[in-house]
Amino acid sequence: MQKLFSSKRKGNESAQPAPIAPTEPESLVRHIAIIMDGNGRWATKRHLPRLAGHKAGVSALRRVVECAADENIEMLSVYAFSTENWGRPRAEVDGLMRLFWETIRSDLEKLHRDGVRLRHLGRLQDLSPDIQKAILDSVELTRNNTRISLNVCFNYGGRAELVDAIRQIIADGKDPEVINEELISSYLYTRDLPDPDLVIRTAGEMRVSNFLLWQSAYSEYYATSTLWPDFGHEDLLAALNSYRQRQRRFGRLVAS
Ligand code: FPP
Repeated sequence: MQKLFSSKRKGNESAQPAPIAPTEPESLVRHIAIIMDGNGRWATKRHLPRLAGHKAGVSALRRVVECAADENIEMLSVYAFSTENWGRPRAEVDGLMRLFWETIRSDLEKLHRDGVRLRHLGRLQDLSPDIQKAILDSVELTRNNTRISLNVCFNYGGRAELVDAIRQIIADGKDPEVINEELISSYLYTRDLPDPDLVIRTAGEMRVSNFLLWQSAYSEYYATSTLWPDFGHEDLLAALNSYRQRQRRFGRLVAS
């Protein structure tokens, strides 16, 4: 019995952490991740093609980036196209690709002027050369902006990200003994970024959908029935308020 409970930690895992101090949650919302769901339903309700819902979703995203910057959120990550979305009808996939490309072209200058730093999270190499170039140029142009970071998860999948990381770890010849959580994190698309404090999912679904699987291990989750194209400042404030009611413990105890 004793052995079961007193086993020595292996390798470089850290020692038992002390209880954490009671948190001041409002100071901790650095990073919000959003699963922007419900574009299709929004369009269907209006007898519009699904792509009209995605276009309205882009407008919602513009609003939310502004609101988040005003609320001093440091970073937003948005799920714009998953590795599984390739399985949608060809017309919708093509429409989403075109919309993404057009949005970068139409919005990049304003985003840059407004101090938004763009990042891309996902498998770049599977995207068309035009889109790859648009992404790389926009990331480069905005790299010194500091007002807010917008991480666009486009052709992103949490499992694919782990596969890519493991492949690279092996390609780099890492010794199994040096593999720990920090090392794995440093091989993810999000290397150097803070984990999301809050994950918001719109349109009432209660699924993680392969989004930031590793990074959201201790994120707070907030689900709303609001469809993404209808999401705005009030909804963001409601999510932040809900977050602020919570006590984050990261699996530990809070010191009294
Ligand atoms: C999920 O709604 C939404 C998507 C798969 C795409 C989200 C994309 C955008 C908001 C546009 C992204 C563009 C840029 C420039 C970042 P759904 O289609 O699954 O909706 P449904 O569940 O109601 O059918």
